[in-house]
Amino acid sequence: MTAEDSHHGADIAARVERRWATVAVIIIVMMAVLAAFAGIHRATMPQPRVETTDPSRLHLSGEFVESNLGSVLEANGAVTVRAIGQQYSFTPACIVVPSDTPITLRATSADVVHGILIQGTNVNTMLVPGYISEQLMRFTRTGDYLMPCQEFCSFGHEGMWGKVRVIDKAEFANRAKAGGRLSCVGQ
Ligand code: CUA
Repeated sequence: MTAEDSHHGADIAARVERRWATVAVIIIVMMAVLAAFAGIHRATMPQPRVETTDPSRLHLSGEFVESNLGSVLEANGAVTVRAIGQQYSFTPACIVVPSDTPITLRATSADVVHGILIQGTNVNTMLVPGYISEQLMRFTRTGDYLMPCQEFCSFGHEGMWGKVRVIDKAEFANRAKAGGRLSCVGQ
């Protein structure tokens, strides 16, 4: 190899290196632009599905009238739980659900912002007046779970507790046969 050849080789190497450095910079810039776009877009766009309700009319008509609160076994075997939070209690105060069943919790607030947290699970959602919160849940273990309000809602907040009782699937199905909305209030 002559001196000229090796000089030529170094030239090519330098050029290739510059080219790939440029490609790397372009990739990094593109990723930064994408991240910024996704962040701004998500922060400025509404959620794909927002359900609203009139908190002053909850008790008069619609999904959250008192007779419709509690747990219901749907035709497809899933369970829907409807509940409301108000200063300073949940209705129903004791929610009964079956184990090993997909459960949809639908809840809202009648007054101020409350929160539903089911201890020992990842169920944790805010109840905002005017909006319906929906959360999917599933329990593998039967027993009682505490359900404190987890959003400060004025002076009675500390005393705002509910309970979730998970019972055997067959027992729940048996109780559901009678129809209506199930709860474990007073049981
Ligand atoms: Cu309701 Cu805190």
